[in-house]
Amino acid sequence: MTFAAKISEVPNFGKKVVAVNGLEIVLINIKGEIFACENECPHQGSPLHSGIVKDGYLSCPRHGFRFDLKSGICLDNPAYTLKIYPVTINNDEIHLESA
Ligand code: FES
Repeated sequence: MTFAAKISEVPNFGKKVVAVNGLEIVLINIKGEIFACENECPHQGSPLHSGIVKDGYLSCPRHGFRFDLKSGICLDNPAYTLKIYPVTINNDEIHLESA
């Protein structure tokens, strides 16, 4: 497990981009639940940190594909899957299990 950030650094309904082991990862806080995904859209590589989060999905700002933040599955084109990193919380610290 690798430390990514403190929960207090990721505002509720907000995001934070971190670098973990050379990977750029977006942390997302939805009502205190933290999600982590790669910051590169699997479609054409657009950064995802400015995408809109709604109903558990992150929308890519470029073409609007929606990705499930739990599974990474793309709702709009199943050929694409977003890399999701399982998260573990220790006190105020966010750790990523597989980054
Ligand atoms: S680059 Fe993300 S949907 Fe096309």
